[in-house]
Amino acid sequence: MTPTDGPLHVAIIMDGNGRWAKQRGLPRTFGHREGVKALKRTVAAAPDLGVTALTVFGFSTENWRRPMAEVSELMSLLKVYVESDLDRLVRENVRVRVIGRRTGLKPDIVEVIDRAEARTAHNSRFLLQVAFNYGGRADIADAARRFAEEVEQGRAKAADLDEALFEQHLSTADAPPPDLIVRTSGEQRISNFLLWECAYAELVFQDVYWPDYGPEHLKAAIAEYRARERRYGGAASDDVLAAG
Ligand code: FPP
Repeated sequence: MTPTDGPLHVAIIMDGNGRWAKQRGLPRTFGHREGVKALKRTVAAAPDLGVTALTVFGFSTENWRRPMAEVSELMSLLKVYVESDLDRLVRENVRVRVIGRRTGLKPDIVEVIDRAEARTAHNSRFLLQVAFNYGGRADIADAARRFAEEVEQGRAKAADLDEALFEQHLSTADAPPPDLIVRTSGEQRISNFLLWECAYAELVFQDVYWPDYGPEHLKAAIAEYRARERRYGGAASDDVLAAG
């Protein structure tokens, strides 16, 4: 397998932190802390596998329903991750983007996010998108609202709206859509992640809890992706040849 075969953009639903901890008789928050280590391993391994963008699901709009202590832990882990890794991400020419709603986040978290985005804004080797306080439906609704506001203000025309224009209003507008979406822990759901963007993504479900994830798992997911044929609604290449 050669890095040029793609996928260029990989998105990951990092699932199974809680079960990983439970298996060991540890509190769920331990699983999330180990999850940060797995994230660091994965970010470090991705460029060598030909990946140029990685989007990870760090906190969903539904995660607010978890116990307050767990919500606080997940919030503080974003901060810990940025604070421990930002200098290195800057050095390694990684651009950081945090997608999702800023409203509802505490000011110190928003400050960390703004700092990470500002310091890496001109980096170009690799894009790390962290979905945080993110929900796919919320993102589509927010995009629709933004477009409607432009129409109200006379800056856009409803008749001009097509898929390409709509996409520019999503929080993922800066990146191409994911080629490959991975979910760990054996669960096989999309759970409100990148709903618009997943239209033609290959889905790979891996039977490993996120805290145990590492370069070898990412490599295996990419190998599975490369073994598939992407058709984007067209016919299989064999059928096209057979049809002459
Ligand atoms: C799912 O496991 C994981 C999450 C809800 C959060 C993922 C967060 C991290 C990996 C921490 C790092 C995050 C950032 C933003 C740096 P789960 O708790 O649903 O596990 P379970 O399904 O086994 O209960």
